[in-house]
Amino acid sequence: MRRCAIGLIGWGTVGGGVLDILHRDAAMLRDRVGLDLRVSRIVTRTPGRLPASAAHGGGVSSDIADITGDPTIDVVVHAVGGTGAAKDLLLACLAAGKPVVTANKALIAEHGDELFAAAAAAGVPIAFEAAVAGGIPVIAALRDGLVANRIDAIHAILNGTCNYILTMMEQAEQDFAEALAAAQGLGYAEADPTLDIDGTDTAHKLAILARIAAAAAVPVSAIRVEGIQAITSDDIASAARLGCRIKLIATARRTTAGLDLHVAPTLVPLDHPLAAVMRNHNGVFVEASNAGPQLFTGQGAGALPTASAVLADVVDVLIGRAAATSRHFSLFAGGTQPRTVGEAEEITGSYARFLVPDRSGVLAGIARILGDRGISVQSLHQDRPAADGRAIIEVLTHPSRGGDFLAAVAAIDAAGLTAKPTVTLRRL
Ligand SMILES: NC(=O)c1ccc[n+]([C@@H]2O[C@H](COP(=O)([O-])OP(=O)(O)OC[C@H]3O[C@@H](n4cnc5c(N)ncnc54)[C@H](OP(=O)(O)O)[C@@H]3O)[C@@H](O)[C@H]2O)c1
Repeated sequence: MRRCAIGLIGWGTVGGGVLDILHRDAAMLRDRVGLDLRVSRIVTRTPGRLPASAAHGGGVSSDIADITGDPTIDVVVHAVGGTGAAKDLLLACLAAGKPVVTANKALIAEHGDELFAAAAAAGVPIAFEAAVAGGIPVIAALRDGLVANRIDAIHAILNGTCNYILTMMEQAEQDFAEALAAAQGLGYAEADPTLDIDGTDTAHKLAILARIAAAAAVPVSAIRVEGIQAITSDDIASAARLGCRIKLIATARRTTAGLDLHVAPTLVPLDHPLAAVMRNHNGVFVEASNAGPQLFTGQGAGALPTASAVLADVVDVLIGRAAATSRHFSLFAGGTQPRTVGEAEEITGSYARFLVPDRSGVLAGIARILGDRGISVQSLHQDRPAADGRAIIEVLTHPSRGGDFLAAVAAIDAAGLTAKPTVTLRRL
């Protein structure tokens, strides 16, 4: 039996989950992979909160040198958030020749080039399965299981907080603020949920997935990002009328014009596999050239699901698989940046909800402006006017250039045909 020593940085949700799984399942891991895994040192900001006995033998401190200077440590689990101190800690471990497993998606997405160059220079791997979609082994699936495929598209639900909020808005008929409070009450959303609901967290994960899928350098800045802050109960009701659900969808898609990368609230038809991904779950829908379409779904966050992915990486590092894949996939070693598609060039089906005064000629005016811009209408629905005399017209379009569609909507609003700015959404 090979004894393996883990140095753990950060004793929060993820670090605590790693300790919990090892406490409960170390014997199962010994039987399965022949490794006796122990956390022998813990470095965290406030070590006083932990008993020294939490780590086997080595103790708990706030000094990273206790890990970097310990020759007995085989692998480091890096479970610290942010991109400041977290980056310095990771670089210190690489410089000391320690392989690193991290759950920090912001760090990999924003500083992957620098970190992977440092790892290559030190001759050690960085593994990051837990950084995308928590407990779902989607990095390994894209990198290894689907290696004989061109990945034509990924459409993914990558933020459990947003998915929970949208689920509660639909199923419990809560408004956005109520659903957010419920997500916070269950521990799905941070006290400051900005990076979840504005789409930033999803964009970090998409940048990582897109790098692997496209085998190209994809900076976060290349991704067009919209969050769910502006989604209202009216939008949820419209989606239901149309046989759809609204999901925050991250898309990476090959097109003849380049790579289309965006995060946006999107109408997903109920018969699409991603429509069934509810509550705080994540889902990654992959269109693979040979294997065909596949959906990966499950818990995208939380102590045990995330620690499950961390420990899979730890095993990969210790049996040498992570070093092999790092050598063969120079994913973050300064590959060329692909041409990306701007909003104007994006080809997508769209939805518009026009609030219009009840007077003759409005519907004809809207249809004419859409037609003039080459937007082909798939279906059109007009409600009976409300008591205030205003009516709602909803339009679904066939796929068209995003720029043409948005220009047509702007022209319709500017022509005075609408009573307030028109709501638009993409369709999957
Ligand atoms: N939570 C999830 O479900 C999840 C899922 C996937 C990925 N992730 C990612 O995993 C990382 C960790 O997340 P988490 O939820 O476990 O965070 P967390 O609960 O806030 O825990 C972070 C831990 O790191 C410690 N820490 C912070 N700065 C430090 C420093 N400079 N030196 C040493 N220790 C430091 C903190 O110490 P104190 O306790 O003293 O503050 C805390 O113990 C993040 O990048 C996150 O995005 C999390």
